[in-house]
Order: sequence, then C-alpha cells, then structure tokens
Amino acid sequence: MEGGWPSGGAFLLCLTVNLLLPGRSNTFTINCSGFHRHGVDPAVFQTIFNQKDFRPVINYSIPTQVNISFTLSAILDVDAQLQLLTSFLWLKMIWTNPFISWDPEKCGAISKLTVTTENLWLPDIFIMESMDVDQTPEGLSAYVTNDGHIVYNKPMRVTSICSLDIFYFPFDQQNCTLTFSSFLYTVENMLLGMEKEVWEIADTSRDIVRTQGEWELLGINKATPKMSVGSSLFDQIMFYVAIRRRPSLYVINLLVPSSFLISIDALSFYLPAESENRAPFKITLLLGYNVFLLMMNKLLPASGTPLISVYFALCLSLMVVSLLETIFITHLLHMASTQPPPMPPWLYSLLFHCTSPGKCCPVALWNENTGPGLMSTHLPGLKEPGQLVGKELGSREAELNGGSGLTSTQLADLWVQFSHMMDTFLFRLYLIFLASSIITVVVLWNT
Ligand SMILES: *[C@@H]1O[C@H](CO)[C@@H](O)[C@H](O)[C@H]1NC(C)=O
Ligand SMILES: *[C@@H]1O[C@H](CO)[C@@H](O)[C@H](O)[C@H]1NC(C)=O
Ligand SMILES: *[C@@H]1O[C@H](CO)[C@@H](O)[C@H](O)[C@H]1NC(C)=O
Ligand SMILES: *[C@@H]1O[C@H](CO)[C@@H](O)[C@H](O)[C@H]1NC(C)=O
Repeated sequence: MEGGWPSGGAFLLCLTVNLLLPGRSNTFTINCSGFHRHGVDPAVFQTIFNQKDFRPVINYSIPTQVNISFTLSAILDVDAQLQLLTSFLWLKMIWTNPFISWDPEKCGAISKLTVTTENLWLPDIFIMESMDVDQTPEGLSAYVTNDGHIVYNKPMRVTSICSLDIFYFPFDQQNCTLTFSSFLYTVENMLLGMEKEVWEIADTSRDIVRTQGEWELLGINKATPKMSVGSSLFDQIMFYVAIRRRPSLYVINLLVPSSFLISIDALSFYLPAESENRAPFKITLLLGYNVFLLMMNKLLPASGTPLISVYFALCLSLMVVSLLETIFITHLLHMASTQPPPMPPWLYSLLFHCTSPGKCCPVALWNENTGPGLMSTHLPGLKEPGQLVGKELGSREAELNGGSGLTSTQLADLWVQFSHMMDTFLFRLYLIFLASSIITVVVLWNT
C-alpha cells in the first residue's frame, strides 16, 4: 500500500504511523493536494462527514479517549432556596478521530483546520448535576489537527444542583460538585481523561472569577470514581468546586448597624434610672431595630436558619429584655417614692452587706458616685442615699435588723438604693449575656 505514495516523506510518515498505531491504515489519510491553492476541498472531508453518526474508531473494541477540562468563568447565582448553583463554563474536549490525518508538509504547512461541529461526531459529555437543558449555541466549530485530534471548546451555562449550607452566612463556603460523564457510552466505549491538571484549571478559573461578583473561587478538586448503573459502568470525572462568599457587603449592611444599635442599647443603661427618658429611648431603639431588620431582610437568605438570623433574634430579645428591666426599675423607684412597702430583713441585710466597704457587690458602683443609676440628686426629697446607708443605717444596724423603726423617708431611701443595686446587677447580667452570646456567635463563625 505504501508504494502507491509519490513522496518519500509521506511514505516515512505512513510507516511511522503504521508502526505506532497498529490497525491504522493510510487509506484514511486525506488527500490534500489542493489545500494551498484552492482552499480546502470539501470533497476530501466528505467521507469523514458522512461517518459523523458513528463513533470514529477503527476497532470497536477500543474505547474513545475524551480528555476534558474547563474554565469556570463566572458564578452567576447561588440560590439557597432551590439549592442551585448557576455558573458559566468553557468546556474543552479533545478526542481523536483516526480517520483524519494529513501531512502538513504537503498541505501548505496547514496543521489544523476548523470544521463546523455539525459535521463531526461529538462525545455526549454532560454534567450530571445540571438541572437545565444544555443551551450550547448553534453553529460552533472545532479544531481538527493533522494527527486527527479534535479540539472542541464550548461555552456552557450550567445550573447545577448543589447542597448549599447557609448556616454560616455571610461567612459561608460552599462545595459544589460538577460530574462530567457520558450520557450513553459505557467504559467499553468511552474513557474520560484530563486535558489539563486540575490545579491549572483551578488557577485559570480563580484568576477569571476573582475579577467579579459576590463569590470567590477557593479551589477545585477532582475525583474519578466509575459509576455503575445496573450492569453498565460509566466513566466520570467529578470536580469539587469550593467557593466562598465575600462577606463585606453583609458585614457593612447587617452586622455593623446591628452592633451599633445593640451597643447603644447597652450604653442606655447609663441613662439615669430616675429620668423619664430611659424607657422611651429604649422603645425608640427597639423600633429602629425592627425597621432595620425589615429593610435588610432581603439581604438574608430566603430559606433556612442562618446563624445571623439567630444573632438578630438574640439582639432583639436583648433589647426587649433591657426594656423590661427598665420598666421593672422604674416601677421599683416609683414604689419607693410613693408608698414604700416594709423591707424584708434579708433584703436589708443584703443591702447593708453590700454597702459595707470592700465588698464586691453591684451597689459599690453607685456608692462611689460613678456608676450607672446613682443620680441621687435627681430624686426629689432624698439626700445622698449612699452616705445615709453607710453611716446612719450602719450605726443602727441592730435596731433595723428587725425591720422596724425606720422612718418612711429612710425606707424610701433604702428602696431607691435597692433599685439602683438591682439596676446595676441586671446591667451586669445583661453585659455578661451579651458578651457570651457574641463570643459564641463569633466562635461558631470562625469554625
Ligand atoms: C490527490 O488528488 C489529486 C487530484 O485532486 C490527484 O491528482 C492525486 O493523484 C491524488 N493523490 C492521491 C495519493 O490519491
Ligand atoms: C480489536 O481490538 C481488540 C483488543 O484490542 C483485539 O483483540 C482485536 O483483535 C481487534 N480487532 C481487530 C479487527 O483488529
Ligand atoms: C488524553 O490524556 C491522556 C493522558 O492523560 C493521553 O495519553 C492521551 O493522548 C490524551 N488524548 C488526547 C486525545 O489528547
Ligand atoms: C468537597 O467535598 C468533597 C467530598 O464531598 C471533598 O472530597 C472535598 O475535599 C471538598 N472540598 C473542599 C474544598 O472542601
């Protein structure tokens, strides 16, 4: 057969090809004598085009090796409610058609040509997680090289199902799988391989995705388990695409305002308990927080219970609790100034115990005229309750332990002191709870 060739170079080429690939015969070599003068003669490719309905192999027991790679160019949408990831890929597939080969030296140094894909057999690679029909544009072309490799690039918008966990929103990472597999061909007919190393895919994709959008590509891993359906075994390549949300939008719009509001709420304990302003102030703050939540609701994931919602609920409850505390203290103070009930002995001893110097009690704060709640001058008719307890009541301890012999002014004074002590104590409880819940949330976010 080789003797029929006019040139020695072609003879050598065919010989080499024959030695390297047993079974391949030069009858499949394209006669390209006209390539450089009249453009490509469609007639020379006609035999190959006519065969496009069949898998191009010489021996049907040899599987076709399709090497794939892709570039993730954009992450368009991550829908936590429908559990869908919409991304855009450029898929590259390379396979060999043993019927195509020509000698570039004889063909005007042409080593590759583009051929419209309608005329070629295409591997039916699809993404198993895809929940949308393949919207590949019509009329794409593929490169055909002189040694029979076909390089086919196609853009793909992939809406794939992905188990999304939004618990850690907005500091969440997602790990979505894209499984490339043949729809029809089992391992006897088609094998999948990598066209590039997976880290190259990850690097290129990361550079492109970095420039845009809410999501940032962390990395891509791969696994190649075979999939068995009944008695057939399918080759597949799984890519694990790890993406991370850029949280700055949510930090600025959700966490910062919320933290400001809750710290103002904490600081409002420093408003004097006797003043009429504390409760209205806290109500305003609560209203403001509700408006904030309403406005920012659209930024939160539509489904599931992310940690941030728990955090907001916690902040709201703390504000409500602090308002209740203010109501309670206001009630106590009101009671003290109108008709103070007799003070139970245990309460009195507790108060006395706490007002003695060197004791670590909440009341110590306002004894020194520095803490929240001690604005004794704001309460008309009372003078320096701290000193009163420290001196006068101290000297009359034995007498008063019985709970008798107090003038109504002194009793009122004691109750005012008790209110202040309660206020400081509850404020500290509030602070401890606030701090521990914030620490818990932050620790959870960091894991
Ligand atoms: C290639 O085709 C040309 C005409 O198009 C013909 O003259 C030549 O003999 C052919 N060569 C072979 C090897 O078939
Ligand atoms: C096809 O390939 C198989 C396995 O490689 C081999 O056993 C068989 O002889 C081949 N058939 C032909 C017709 O070459
Ligand atoms: C596909 O990749 C394998 C190794 O990864 C290589 O041996 C083979 O030649 C490649 N096939 C094509 C068509 O590029
Ligand atoms: C994604 O999940 C797969 C298994 O489900 C795991 O092998 C892979 O390491 C994960 N990737 C990342 C970046 O966490």
